[in-house]
Amino acid sequence: MSLSLIGRSFLTLLDFTPEEIRYLLDLAKKTKADTKKGKIHRRFEGKTLALLFEKRSTRTRCAFETAFGEEGGHPVFLSTADIQLGGKESLEDTARVLGRMFSAIQFRGFKQETAETLAKYSNVPVYNGLTDLYHPTQALADIMTLEESFGTAKGKTLCYMGDGRNNVARSLMVICSKLGAHFTIVTPPELNPDEKLREMTAPLAKESGAVITVTPDINAVKGADAVYTDVWISMGEEEKRAERVRLLSPYQVNQKIMDMTGKSGSIFLHCLPAVKGEEVTADVIDGPRSKAWDQAENRKHTIKAVMLATLVR
Ligand code: CP
Ligand code: NVA
Repeated sequence: MSLSLIGRSFLTLLDFTPEEIRYLLDLAKKTKADTKKGKIHRRFEGKTLALLFEKRSTRTRCAFETAFGEEGGHPVFLSTADIQLGGKESLEDTARVLGRMFSAIQFRGFKQETAETLAKYSNVPVYNGLTDLYHPTQALADIMTLEESFGTAKGKTLCYMGDGRNNVARSLMVICSKLGAHFTIVTPPELNPDEKLREMTAPLAKESGAVITVTPDINAVKGADAVYTDVWISMGEEEKRAERVRLLSPYQVNQKIMDMTGKSGSIFLHCLPAVKGEEVTADVIDGPRSKAWDQAENRKHTIKAVMLATLVR
């Protein structure tokens, strides 16, 4: 395959073609298979990775750090307590300096613009490990998990119930539109994804054959192959708790919702961390239809694939 992603940043997925996303998914599958066989490579030897975190993380941090380190790379964890990130020093200057010392940068934080600025001024690949607007590495792992269950994501229906405007829902809308997976967001109108995103993804969906639906009606879960949910209160939105509980309580994923899919083979997905008893009941997430733990593992394989594709010739 002549396709090369060397030097590319991974910020929203909007600038990746369906073929490029396919390439990353296939590489992630190969990476996973190698890991299961105990095949150890040293593909990141001599390389360094800056891990910048404004928000907390379990999966994303551990996935980047272990995927990079186990292949000989040197990851360096830097929280906002450790470095300047637009405080005393401008963000542009921090980016320039990090670009001189690191092979790549991972950023998790609030503003999408911070990730974009790091990419613009560092001259090295920047990976978005979650911002208020997007969580693209999560979406890649989610599609990998769907494909492991159904062989393909194209033509399958993923139904997301909950906060329809958050980073996870938005990135799923992007990747499903690109890959031809039908994507239904079931959310109260107050939490609809913004119109701009819908306008950006509509032509992609038309091209791939994906049907994208946004509705407040929980009956839309009928026929879904996978039911997905995320926390009602994302990081940084803690003051919205009371309003979110009020708006989203009717949208909890429980056994009744799983039964409403009408498919005994439908699966449950969650990006984690989960607040059991809020967006999902314990019997569903800990039950036999839950793929949430495979999904968490797949974060590592997909993140390793993104780093391999963008860093290793
Ligand atoms: N799903 C996810 O991004 O988890 P963390 O917040 O633990 O990284
Ligand atoms: N929407 C959640 C995702 C966590 C992985 C948040 O931003 O907190």
